[in-house]
Amino acid sequence: MKAVVITQPGGPEVLQVQEYATPSPAPDEVLIAVKAAGLNRADLSQREGNYPAPPGAPADIPGMEVAGIIIQCGDAVTLWKPGDNVCALIAGGGYAEMATVQEGQCLPIPAGFSFAEAASLPETIFTVWSNLFQRARLQQGEKLLVHGGSSGIGITAIQLGRAFGVQVFVTVGSDEKGKACLELGAKKYVNYKTQDFEQELATTGINVILDMVGGDYLDKNLNILSPEGRLVYINAVEGNEVQLNLFKLMRKRLTVTGSTLRNREYSYKKALALDIHQQVWPLIEAGQYKPVIYKTFSFEEAAEAHRLMQSSRHIGKIILVNE
Ligand SMILES: NC(=O)c1ccc[n+]([C@@H]2O[C@H](COP(=O)([O-])OP(=O)(O)OC[C@H]3O[C@@H](n4cnc5c(N)ncnc54)[C@H](OP(=O)(O)O)[C@@H]3O)[C@@H](O)[C@H]2O)c1
Repeated sequence: MKAVVITQPGGPEVLQVQEYATPSPAPDEVLIAVKAAGLNRADLSQREGNYPAPPGAPADIPGMEVAGIIIQCGDAVTLWKPGDNVCALIAGGGYAEMATVQEGQCLPIPAGFSFAEAASLPETIFTVWSNLFQRARLQQGEKLLVHGGSSGIGITAIQLGRAFGVQVFVTVGSDEKGKACLELGAKKYVNYKTQDFEQELATTGINVILDMVGGDYLDKNLNILSPEGRLVYINAVEGNEVQLNLFKLMRKRLTVTGSTLRNREYSYKKALALDIHQQVWPLIEAGQYKPVIYKTFSFEEAAEAHRLMQSSRHIGKIILVNE
């Protein structure tokens, strides 16, 4: 099969389409003919050699989410059959013509969605659902702040928040990105390049914050959270060694938490997929969630796709399509 291979750790140019051995499914796995694969920020770190794939996933093919057609099922598979169209969360190896994944990490492609649109869903929906709705217990009527509102994660958090009756505030790096977030249902954006989010949201009464920035955002986050507020980390691009004022935590009875999805065990991801299928898929099917695809690229253009993500010019998702 054809795959986009990380030929050595480095810049986008190390991504090259090469012939690769077709994987064969284990008893509880399906083999998917990949029609589209979503890009995620972590793919860039993996390409640079800073984020190795977990055991079992191909070390040199990036890609943590795909959509396509099941062409083979392992002997123990009960949920799917060849010919089913699915999107799936995978631990790696998505930028390829074929990928294997355990059956419990697949979801049906929502009616009317293209393969590219379906491939934009798994990583961000699994991450947002598990961190905001399960871990931080985000409730209807609460106020949510999402840093990086125009990221793949951000556009998902805005839309799921809105669908569940949450008021969503975002920080973004440009007014163009801010306006896109408002169109998706955010109540207000703060352009962190020209405004101070702590000042702008000081009296808003934020209940939950989703943060991927880290660093000196910690103290500002704690200052704007309401009593019983929850702060959830999914990355810390501006630094993970921070100083924490414990009295701020105690005074307002705050919770600081976080998680990483990729290294979680199959049983966790399977249960998460089931919960998402029950709680989120009906909203998607009802048209309450709009996939936001900024640009699609072919496998041959994977380096270009990585350059775009690295530039942070995009709004929403970047997708590789296998035509
Ligand atoms: N823990 C987990 O399980 C998990 C799962 C999925 C994703 N994530 C994390 O969630 C974040 C978003 O992922 P994604 O795939 O949606 O990424 P993405 O679409 O590339 O978005 C990242 C955005 O973050 C903003 N940003 C703010 N500060 C930044 C900085 N210092 N450097 C680079 N970008 C900065 C940029 O927009 P502005 O122009 O507005 O700054 C950029 O567009 C990533 O950090 C990713 O690692 C974590």
